[in-house]
Amino acid sequence: MSLTCPLCQGALSAVDNGVACPAGHRFDRARQGYLNLLPVQHKNSRDPGDNAAMVEARRRFLDGGHYAPLARRLAELAAGYAPARWLDIGCGEGYYSAQLADALPAADGYALDISREAIKRGCKRSPQLTWLVASMARVPLADASCQLLASVFSPLDWQEAKRLLAPGGGLLRMGPSREHLMQLRQKLYDEVRDYDEQKHLELIPAGMRLAHSETLSFALQLSSSEARADLLAMTPHGWRASAERRAAVIAEPLEVTVAIRYDWIERTGH
Ligand SMILES: C[S@@+](CC[C@H](N)C(=O)[O-])C[C@H]1O[C@@H](n2cnc3c(N)ncnc32)[C@H](O)[C@@H]1O
Repeated sequence: MSLTCPLCQGALSAVDNGVACPAGHRFDRARQGYLNLLPVQHKNSRDPGDNAAMVEARRRFLDGGHYAPLARRLAELAAGYAPARWLDIGCGEGYYSAQLADALPAADGYALDISREAIKRGCKRSPQLTWLVASMARVPLADASCQLLASVFSPLDWQEAKRLLAPGGGLLRMGPSREHLMQLRQKLYDEVRDYDEQKHLELIPAGMRLAHSETLSFALQLSSSEARADLLAMTPHGWRASAERRAAVIAEPLEVTVAIRYDWIERTGH
């Protein structure tokens, strides 16, 4: 186990139905199997992260297979890097984490999110992973303990990512490219904001460098109103766009471009 105490950073080891550090801080395992390593004093709100409605919308949409090619490519890329230990940061309800676990059967896998609603559902997908309710700003894993970090459609704390990575390891980031969901955005807004798909590259800290990038795009037919409603509910468009425009999107079949960028950002060792 490579877990560290969120209160004092001491090494955590397994105790009866939970984990504990040498200083005596103890964290119980929840009934569903996850560990809650988010102490109340590190919470900014009572229920941080995505709420149950968002998590459910994402779970239904992803289980509908609409983004299956994206997960397949993520898993293929991860398998190519053959990490001994990996962590999915901001894993949501674990759709991508579960496919990473299948592609990396011999590796020690972790999936982390600040949303308890998300992690509760994740546990069911892949009981062999260590599921953590924790903050990406204070990841309860030791320095240089991971060879691969996944960050899928999530915010990221770059300094934490760097701290967690072993030299030669890397961050596999998946995020929208300029054309992603363009037709949807055109229906929702009078002026479609240009999305700078390279913005995150400016945040790469010293000691990490971009080693590989690629884009995967395909046309997606959204023929059911439930899928269109779920796609809105799982993205910021669900609250950003007007109710009228959202209703219009849900009313009619839609073809959208899915265009996702994959970046592999390596830890160089200095
Ligand atoms: C857009 S969702 C992506 C979920 C998942 N990776 C996916 O693509 O299905 C972003 C996730 O980041 C989580 N999140 C936001 N802030 C966080 C933080 N400070 N620490 C950990 N997770 C966080 C949210 O709860 C949410 O599940």
